[in-house]
Amino acid sequence: MTILGIDIGGTGIKGAPVNVKTGKLLAERFRIPTPQPSHPSALADAVGQIAAHFKYRGPAGITFPGIVKNGVVNFATNMAPEWFGTDASAVFAKRLGHPVTVVNDADAAGYAEMRFGAGRDKKGVVLMLTFGTGIGSALFCDGVLIPNTEFGHLKIRGKTAECRASERIREEEDLSFKKWSKRVSEYLADLEPLLSPELFIVGGGISKKADKFLPRLAAMTKVPIEAAILQNNAGIIGAACLAKKPS
Ligand code: BGC
Repeated sequence: MTILGIDIGGTGIKGAPVNVKTGKLLAERFRIPTPQPSHPSALADAVGQIAAHFKYRGPAGITFPGIVKNGVVNFATNMAPEWFGTDASAVFAKRLGHPVTVVNDADAAGYAEMRFGAGRDKKGVVLMLTFGTGIGSALFCDGVLIPNTEFGHLKIRGKTAECRASERIREEEDLSFKKWSKRVSEYLADLEPLLSPELFIVGGGISKKADKFLPRLAAMTKVPIEAAILQNNAGIIGAACLAKKPS
């Protein structure tokens, strides 16, 4: 079955039709910059543009970079404040004219990695972290998602982890991979005793450059650590797979 997956990030919105059985993208993904300010109507237009690009009519799965409960946004530091309390699934469904399921972006990416990527068949506690505009987290126990964890907001040295170690901060502060990896390893060392994970998966925009940081991080971290295999497509794939299917 084909479902349109759309991944809304702080800087870009990307989408593609996905075969939800195999997790494969059925067309080259289409990306547009996230409108600024990211008001609900502007994001709804962007979502409409992506569906129109693929001439897609049908249910969609959409990620959002914040806490999403039953389609309603509760918290999102990197998006316009108008989103708080807004039923995102209703806003997008109205624009597309079809049912829409909205989930947290890291949860979607983690779900895809657990099903088709680095976390496949992994038992026990697995934590996927996405490093992009912010830091997202997705927690799994025996493959089951515990939604809306926000470990990117854990405080380290008086600042949230995402204000010290996101990919955005690495770029803004022009941090070398050596310096950035040190910050991330401090963060992982704080998470490890809280969760006792079997595996950390590093995803998000940074996962394309795994050769530059993974060996360093692995050497500084007690828990096994792997880079996301689906890289930047994980959110699109997870969103499509988590979308409610028509009965
Ligand atoms: C948000 C998370 C999101 C992450 C990555 C954080 O600022 O609070 O919900 O998953 O950014 O986009």
